[in-house]
Amino acid sequence: MTTYEQIFENNKRWIEAKKSTDAQFFEKLSMGQNPDFLYIGCSDSRVTAEDLMGLQPGEVFVHRNIANLISNTDLNVMSVINYAVDYLQVKHIVVCGHYFCGGVKAAMQSRDMGILNPWLRNIRDVYRLHKEELDAIQEEDQRYIRLVELNVEEQCINVLKTAAVQKAYLSNGIPKVHGWVFNVKTGELTDLEFDFQQKLKDIQEIYNLGTNIPPK
Ligand code: CO
Repeated sequence: MTTYEQIFENNKRWIEAKKSTDAQFFEKLSMGQNPDFLYIGCSDSRVTAEDLMGLQPGEVFVHRNIANLISNTDLNVMSVINYAVDYLQVKHIVVCGHYFCGGVKAAMQSRDMGILNPWLRNIRDVYRLHKEELDAIQEEDQRYIRLVELNVEEQCINVLKTAAVQKAYLSNGIPKVHGWVFNVKTGELTDLEFDFQQKLKDIQEIYNLGTNIPPK
């Protein structure tokens, strides 16, 4: 277990390590950020965004919450997406879920979770949308795995529903939206190959905010 004091010792060592490979490392960081990636993942302490992608400070804009949800009434995640798209002009938006996700597990149980209820309801909504497929899976662990994946897919769709992403993609061809899943047990990162262009087309039939043409 790391003690509170050790954190500051670690920090000193980290500074030295960074400087030993590049003496100007922090000076360059202070000039600004220009990351190509926006990563939206779970708050789970085992799923460390930069580490698992092998990225350095300055290379990824990060947002994390319980079960990597993109809720349209969450001002936090909506601000992150808008800032990343409009100001940072990221090339890729990644929604990264993970197997053994406590948030997804909790949403599969019939239990009152207090203040977490409205948050976890987003995952129950994913279950409802895919009830037929999920109910057909006999093994509970397999159903849990599949719900993690379907949740990632539905959150990617929620990213596509935003005006910022639709407008930027239709005029500049970026950002692209990707769904990933991280396996805590093996460390492996898998691209779920979310069909971004097809989904965007489908989404725009109802949620078209990408043009200023008034509705018929
Ligand atoms: Co999680």
